[in-house]
Amino acid sequence: MDTPLAAPPSLHAERVVLRPPRAGDRAALYALYSAPQVMRYWSTPAWSELAAADAWFGRQEDGLLAGSALTWAIALRDADALIGTVSLHAIFPGQARADIGYALHPAYWGRGLAREAVRLALRYGFDALGLRRIEADTDPGNTGSCRLLEALGFQREGLLRERWQVGDLTSDTALYGLLRDDLR
Ligand SMILES: CC(C)(COP(=O)(O)OP(=O)(O)OC[C@H]1O[C@@H](n2cnc3c(N)ncnc32)[C@H](O)[C@@H]1OP(=O)(O)O)[C@@H](O)C(=O)NCCC(=O)NCCS
Repeated sequence: MDTPLAAPPSLHAERVVLRPPRAGDRAALYALYSAPQVMRYWSTPAWSELAAADAWFGRQEDGLLAGSALTWAIALRDADALIGTVSLHAIFPGQARADIGYALHPAYWGRGLAREAVRLALRYGFDALGLRRIEADTDPGNTGSCRLLEALGFQREGLLRERWQVGDLTSDTALYGLLRDDLR
């Protein structure tokens, strides 16, 4: 498996583009990660200040340098603005496995755009990185996320009880897995 050493390449689907995030995305990232609907099931609290974007960029750079994470901005094909993010993280080259994470601004939900964007990242993981297995950790109550994963071919493989503590809220994980030939 090749270890990624550079920013991820831009990838194109019918309606969306995945491109590397850049400094000009700060305000759009804030709009995304401060939205209560987006952060309802997230593993960290909603952002409350724009400066959180700087720490986010730092984490992306660390992951890129370590070869453990690749994050893309999701944009519409005919507009460059960031409307979401998708990442392959916990990339474990020795085991040819990684996790997938995604968020789309609520203004764009319900149109199949997340499905297109996440499919591009999964395809890249299997074809360019040579992954064998991709996992997703989602709250079992996060219906939109579970539906998205199942539409892409993920199988629900287990329930990990009380896995997360975010603020006062303890939550379970539904663990999903996707093998190369499962992808739809
Ligand atoms: C998870 C998330 C990305 C899903 O977004 P979404 O827009 O609902 O997902 P999709 O792209 O799969 O949209 C599919 C819906 O659009 C509809 N749709 C409309 N046009 C479509 C098209 N051309 N193709 C496919 N679906 C289409 C589908 O019918 C489907 O609706 P359904 O779920 O009622 O069946 C979004 O809810 C989100 O960002 N949540 C917050 C972040 C989060 O929780 N992330 C996961 C953490 S693990």
